[in-house]
Amino acid sequence: MKKIILGITGGIAAYKSCEVIRLLKKSNFDVHVIMTENSKKFITPLTLEVLSNNKVQTNQWNLHSDIYDGISHINYSKNASCILVAPASANFIAKLANGIADDLLSSTCLARKIPLILAPSMNTHMWENPATKRNINQVKDDGINIIGPNTGFQACGDSGIGRMIEPAEISDYIKNSFFKKNNLPLNKLNILITAGPTYEAIDPVRGITNLSSGKMGFSIAEEAFRNGANVDIICGHSLQDCSSTINRINVTSAKEMFERVLTHCKTKKIDIFFSVAAIADWRPKQIKKIKLKKEKDTLDNIKWIENPDILSSVANLPKSLRPFTVAFAAETNNLTNFLPQLGEKMLKKKANLLVANKVPESFGACDTRIMIFEKKNKFKIFNGSKNLLAKEIISKSIEIMKNEKWK
Ligand SMILES: Cc1cc2nc3c(=O)[nH]c(=O)nc-3n(C[C@H](O)[C@H](O)[C@H](O)COP(=O)(O)O)c2cc1C
Repeated sequence: MKKIILGITGGIAAYKSCEVIRLLKKSNFDVHVIMTENSKKFITPLTLEVLSNNKVQTNQWNLHSDIYDGISHINYSKNASCILVAPASANFIAKLANGIADDLLSSTCLARKIPLILAPSMNTHMWENPATKRNINQVKDDGINIIGPNTGFQACGDSGIGRMIEPAEISDYIKNSFFKKNNLPLNKLNILITAGPTYEAIDPVRGITNLSSGKMGFSIAEEAFRNGANVDIICGHSLQDCSSTINRINVTSAKEMFERVLTHCKTKKIDIFFSVAAIADWRPKQIKKIKLKKEKDTLDNIKWIENPDILSSVANLPKSLRPFTVAFAAETNNLTNFLPQLGEKMLKKKANLLVANKVPESFGACDTRIMIFEKKNKFKIFNGSKNLLAKEIISKSIEIMKNEKWK
C-alpha cells in the first residue's frame, strides 16, 4: 500500500476531499490527511479520519502519533509517495510560492523530497488575479505540479475558471503519474497534438489569426495523459492552462508549427497525431519590416502564399514514421448538409479518423457538437463538454487502432 499525504486547505471544495479520499482508498492508497486550521471551518477532521482510517493531523505542535518519531513536518512525508493538496487555496499557493512555512501543511510541503501536486480551487477573480498568476508560475517553476482548475459554475454564483477538477480526475491523475498502470490503453504511447490558432504576421504589429481557444486540444491532451500516454502539445497563442505532466511547446505561425510537428514525428516516434489546431491556410509572402502606414500603404499589394499542409504532411510520412492520424475539420456550413464533403476530406487527407465541428460557435465554447467519421459514410454525432468529447475521441481512436491492428 502506498502512502499519500492529502493536504486540505480552506476552500469551499474541501467537501470534495471526502470523495478524493474514497477514490484513493479504493485504489489501495493509504491516505494521511493534514488540514490547515482554516479548512476545519469547511469540513470536520472526524469525517476525514473515518474515511481515511488514519489520524488527521492539524497542528504541528500536537501531532497525533502513538510513538514519538521525531519532528513532525520533517518526518511526516519521508515514507510517503507524494503530497496532494486538494483543494489548494489561493492563500496556500501564495505561501508555497514564497517558501512560507507557518503551519504543519506548509512546513511539510517545504521540507518534502517527494512530488507535490496542487489542485487549485477558488473564485474565478482570485484565479485571474495577477498575484495568483505570478504565484502559480512560481510554483510551476519550482517543480510543483498543478492539476486544473476547471471552468464552470462556482459556489459563489460566478462562472469561469477556478473550480477544482473533479475527484475522479484527481485520483486518475495520481494513479497515472506516480504509479503508472501497465494496462492503461495508451500506456507509454507518444501522442502529439496541435491546438489553438496560428498567427501570420503582415507587419511587426499586425497579422491574421482566428478565434480558436485551444480548449479541445488541451482536453484531448489531458485525456490522453489520463489514459497513460506521454503527451506533447504544440500550440499557437492560447490562454488555456495545462497540467505540468504535458509537454507544451508554444509556437506562433503555421510554418513554425509545421516545422515543430515534423521534427517531432521524425525524432520522437509519434504513435497518434491529433491535428486539432486551427491553422491559417495562407500567409503573406513577405512580412513588412516596418508598420504599414494607412496614408501611403495598402493591403492590396500583399502577396499571399499557401502554408504547408501539416496534416497531409504527417499522413504521408513513410510507414515507419507515420502515426495514427486524427484530422479535425472546422466548417461554417451546416454539418449535416455537408456530409459528402466531410467524407471526401477524410479520404483526401488520408486521416484514420475525422472529427468535424461547426465554427465559429465552437470557438472558445465549453460545450459543443461534433461528428466523428471513421469511414467516408460512417459517422456518429456527439454533444457535450469538450472534456467529455475528448473521452469519445480518444476511445474511438483506441477502438479503431485495435481493430486495424495498428502497428
Ligand atoms: C465561505 C468562504 C469560502 C472560501 N472559499 C475559498 C476558496 O474556494 N478558495 C480560496 O482560495 N479561498 C477561499 N476562501 C478564503 C480562504 O478561506 C482564506 O484565504 C483562508 O485564509 C485560507 O486559509 P488556508 O490557505 O490556510 O487554508 C473562502 C473563505 C470563505 C469565508
